[in-house]
Amino acid sequence: MMGWRRLCLCLSAAVAAAALAAGVGVGVAGAQLSPGFYNATCPALQSVVRRGMARAVRREPRMGASILRLFFHDCFVNGCDASVLLDDVPATNFTGEKNAGPNANSLRGFDVIDAIKAQVEAACNATVSCADILALAARDAVNLLGGPSWTVPLGRRDARNASAGAANANLPPPDATLPTLLSMFGAKGLDARDLTALSGAHTVGRARCAVFRAHIYNDTTANASFAAGLRAAVCPAAGGDANLAPLEPQAPDAFDNAYFRDLLARRVLLRSDQALYGGSGNGTTDALVRAYAANATAFAADFAAAMVRMGSLATSGAGGGEVRINCRRVN
Ligand code: HEM
Ligand SMILES: *[C@@H]1O[C@H](CO)[C@@H](O)[C@H](O)[C@H]1NC(C)=O
Ligand SMILES: *[C@@H]1O[C@H](CO)[C@@H](O)[C@H](O)[C@H]1NC(C)=O
Ligand SMILES: *[C@@H]1O[C@H](CO)[C@@H](O)[C@H](O)[C@H]1NC(C)=O
Ligand SMILES: *[C@@H]1O[C@H](CO)[C@@H](O)[C@H](O)[C@H]1NC(C)=O
Ligand SMILES: *[C@@H]1O[C@H](CO)[C@@H](O)[C@H](O)[C@H]1NC(C)=O
Ligand SMILES: *[C@@H]1O[C@H](CO)[C@@H](O)[C@H](O)[C@H]1NC(C)=O
Ligand SMILES: *[C@@H]1O[C@H](CO)[C@@H](O)[C@H](O)[C@H]1NC(C)=O
Ligand SMILES: *[C@@H]1O[C@H](CO)[C@@H](O)[C@H](O)[C@H]1NC(C)=O
Repeated sequence: MMGWRRLCLCLSAAVAAAALAAGVGVGVAGAQLSPGFYNATCPALQSVVRRGMARAVRREPRMGASILRLFFHDCFVNGCDASVLLDDVPATNFTGEKNAGPNANSLRGFDVIDAIKAQVEAACNATVSCADILALAARDAVNLLGGPSWTVPLGRRDARNASAGAANANLPPPDATLPTLLSMFGAKGLDARDLTALSGAHTVGRARCAVFRAHIYNDTTANASFAAGLRAAVCPAAGGDANLAPLEPQAPDAFDNAYFRDLLARRVLLRSDQALYGGSGNGTTDALVRAYAANATAFAADFAAAMVRMGSLATSGAGGGEVRINCRRVN
C-alpha cells in the first residue's frame, strides 16, 4: 500500500533543506515560459487539447480529477517535464516514476494524454511538448468540472529521464502533518496560501480505503458520524484496500469550494486534508480555510494563481530536454 510513507516522513525534511540550499526545484521558470509560445507553430493546440479533455470528462467525469493529479505529480518531481509519463523499460533497466509509491495503482489518465498527444501530433508534428499538453489538460479539466480557467504559460521541455526516488521523496503522503506539508511545498517555493488553495483540488476525485483508513479509524479529528459511515460502507478495518470514496462527499465531480466547508465540518478523507484546519496544526492555514469556505471567488482566484506557480516549477537538470513524439518514451 503506502510504500512511500515511511520513506517520505524520514526524508522530507532533509530533501527540503537540501533543495532550498541548492536552489534545486525552487527555480520558477516563469520568465522562460510564455502563453504565446506556440501561436505561430501550433495555433490549433489549445482547441485540440480542450476537445480531447471534453471528450474524456464526458465519458468519465472522474477523469478530470485524475488528469489534475497527474499534473501535480509531474510538477513536484523535478519540475513539470512530463517525467511522470515515461514508461518503465525493462530491456534497458530504465525505471520511471509510474511505479513509485505515491503513483503505483493510483495515477490514471495516461491513455487520455496519449490520445490528445496523437491529435496534437496530427495538427502540428513534433512541435508541442508532452509537459505543455499536460499543463493545458489540467487547466481544462478544472474548468470542465465547473472550476476557474486561467492562461497557461507554455514552452516546457520533456525530460529524457525520470526519478522514482524523487517521486517517493517529494510527493506528500496522506498522513502528512501540517509542518511536513508546509516544508514539502516550501521546498518548491510554494507557501501556506498555495498549499491551502492547491489542496482544494480534493474537491474532486476519489481515494482508496488504504490511504484514508488511518484517518477514519484512529483520528479524533475526523467527524464521528462521517467516519462511522465510511467504516461501515466502504472501508473495513482489514481488506478492501482498493475501495473508493469521494475525497469531497457532497459533489465529487464539481470543482467548487465545498472541500473547505467539509474541512470545517471535519468531513474529509485524508489526515493531510484535515491537518489544514482545526488544531492539528498551529493555526497557520485555519484562516485561509475559513476564507475559502465562505468565498468561492477567492478560492477560484487563488487556486488559479497557485496552479500557474506550481506549473512553472523548473526542471532541476535545466537545459536540454526535448519534444517527445510519444509521451511514454524518450525520442
Ligand atoms: C497537499 C498534499 C497532498 C496529499 C497528501 C495528497 C494525497 C492524495 C491521495 C493519497 C490521493 C488518493 C490516491 C489514491 O487513493 O490512490 C489523492 C487524490 C487526488 N489528489 Fe491529492 N494530495 C495532495 C495535494 C494535491 C494537489 C496539490 C493536487 C492538485 C492540484 C491534488 C489532486 C488530487 C486529485 C484531483 C485526486 C483525485 C484523483 C482521482 O480521482 O483520480 N492533490 N491525493
Ligand atoms: C498569442 O495569441 C493570443 C491569442 O490570439 C494573443 O493574445 C497573444 O498576444 C499572442 N502572443 C504572441 C506572443 O504572439
Ligand atoms: C540490467 O540490469 C541487469 C542486472 O543488474 C544486468 O545484468 C543487465 O546487463 C542490465 N541491462 C542493461 C541493458 O543495462
Ligand atoms: C513528423 O516528424 C517526424 C520527426 O521530425 C518525422 O520523422 C515524420 O516523418 C513527420 N511526420 C509527418 C507526417 O510529417
Ligand atoms: C536517470 O536518473 C536516474 C535516477 O535518478 C539516475 O540514476 C541515472 O543516472 C539517470 N540517467 C541519466 C542518463 O541521466
Ligand atoms: C506555525 O508553523 C509554521 C511552520 O511550522 C511556522 O512557520 C509558523 O511561524 C508557526 N506559526 C505560529 C503562530 O506558531
Ligand atoms: C491505529 O492506531 C494503532 C495504535 O497506534 C495502530 O496499531 C493501528 O494500526 C492503527 N490503525 C489504523 C487503521 O491506522
Ligand atoms: C459532522 O457532520 C455532520 C453532518 O454530516 C454535521 O452536522 C456536524 O456538525 C459535523 N460535526 C462537526 C464536529 O463538525
Ligand atoms: C470574495 O473574494 C473576492 C476575491 O478575493 C473579493 O473581491 C470579494 O470582495 C470577496 N467577497 C466577499 C463577500 O468577501
